[in-house]
Amino acid sequence: MATAKPDASRPLLLVVDDEVPVLKVLERLAARIGFDVVTCASGADAMRTLMRKPADLAMVDLRMPDVNGLDLLKQIKVAVPGCEVILMTAYAAVDSAVEAIKLGAREYLTKPFDFDRLKQVLEDTRMELERRAQVVALESQVARQLEFCGMLGRSPAMQEVFSLIQRLAPHAKVVLIDGETGTGKELAARAFHQAGTRRTRPFVTINCSAVVDTLFESELFGHVRGAFTGAVESKPGVFEAAQGGTLFLDEVGELPLSVQAKLLRALEYGEVQRVGSLQPKRVDVTVIAATNRDLRAEVAAGRFRGDLFYRLNVVEVTLPPLRDRREDIPYLTAAFVRDCAARVRKPIHGLTPQAERVLLNARWDGNVRELKNVIERACMLADGTLLSERELAGAFGPDVQTARPAAVLKPRPTGDAAPGTPPLEEIEREHILEVLRQVNGNRMAAAKLLGISRRALYRRLERHHLAEEAPPALLRRPV
Ligand SMILES: Nc1ncnc2c1ncn2[C@@H]1O[C@H](COP(=O)(O)OP(=O)(O)OP(=O)(O)O)[C@@H](O)[C@H]1O
Ligand SMILES: [Mg+2]
Repeated sequence: MATAKPDASRPLLLVVDDEVPVLKVLERLAARIGFDVVTCASGADAMRTLMRKPADLAMVDLRMPDVNGLDLLKQIKVAVPGCEVILMTAYAAVDSAVEAIKLGAREYLTKPFDFDRLKQVLEDTRMELERRAQVVALESQVARQLEFCGMLGRSPAMQEVFSLIQRLAPHAKVVLIDGETGTGKELAARAFHQAGTRRTRPFVTINCSAVVDTLFESELFGHVRGAFTGAVESKPGVFEAAQGGTLFLDEVGELPLSVQAKLLRALEYGEVQRVGSLQPKRVDVTVIAATNRDLRAEVAAGRFRGDLFYRLNVVEVTLPPLRDRREDIPYLTAAFVRDCAARVRKPIHGLTPQAERVLLNARWDGNVRELKNVIERACMLADGTLLSERELAGAFGPDVQTARPAAVLKPRPTGDAAPGTPPLEEIEREHILEVLRQVNGNRMAAAKLLGISRRALYRRLERHHLAEEAPPALLRRPV
């Protein structure tokens, strides 16, 4: 293998031919035209090189001692789907030319070379590759511009969210952020903090779904020594810890009713009282609450206090689900690919057009989090410079099943299902039950594993008549 001096801005050409003079001629010509060139004298050497350095273009001889050029073309397309391939042969044959084009070759050149045509083909290809690279660079640049405190979005809905946060952040004392799971509620809360006047003060988070009922009061408001068994030291709560800054009450819909009343008091009076103390303390804190529950429905069902709800939703920001702002998908994808490629140190710089289509059309019940996970997994699986449908198929893992788009699924045979095949509804019911068993009936954990919002899980539980089922019944394995 021989290489010319590498230059990151030039497209990389891999030339594979067992005749050294051909390698030399092409290397010189292509370098003049603007390629970085790597030459290999055998198919095996070419594949090894390609795995290390994914090329943008490969010129492959049709007949080599160790491999047929058409087979090598197939291997290259599998290993590096974004790599263009030009076949070359001294034995012009219409059949192999047609076959090569069908297998995805870009051109078919005959030897001895017609140098004018060879130059033209290389120049055209270089220009197209550079145009493609520019588009990708532009997309990630645009992604950077359409960023607001770490949140990306070009859709009118997200631009509206950014503008709302920007306008309200300096003034709002209580904010409610709602939206399905994975839509970016926590990110929005941080953006509020960043865009406000308290950005240098603490940002403290408490996840209400992770606190044991009996410890809520102490977590929020603190306790004094000896207030209850185990309270060996006095301890401030999150309200005091966030003094002067922002307190983020995540999953506020999980707050027990008894604690809701105390939270309401703290919000109304700007005072907290540690458990076991009679001394109220003044706190100056911006409270941002987030939920993926429909709090209005929770109020109607008597599970959430109406007065607390109205106190919280003075300012309400709703993050739209990703399926309602699909124009954000390419921008989010470009940014996630850029970050992830840098993290896993791979030269991945985009997706094939087919892979982009798959992402655009997926269901995304798990929203941006799910998209991010899919891209991360695909980057880990990727060998080439572009993510293809193949990596995506591997990346839509078991916990993101609901987002799996039709394009990634194997087509079902037409006609009636085979006898004994359970209907889809039944498979879904069994799958939900199995996941609930795995997480001991914890519905929030189950929704996360299934990659759907909790509300979506509740809807499905109702549809399958599982909503009223007590956890132990869910946990019983079918006999
Ligand atoms: N607009 C966005 N731009 C960039 N990244 C985003 C955006 N929205 C969400 N993300 C990313 O998606 C992931 C999920 O976001 P986040 O945790 O804020 O969602 P959430 O609404 O709080 O989800 P949950 O309801 O499950 O807690 C995070 O990794 C976050 O960085
Ligand atoms: Mg969250």
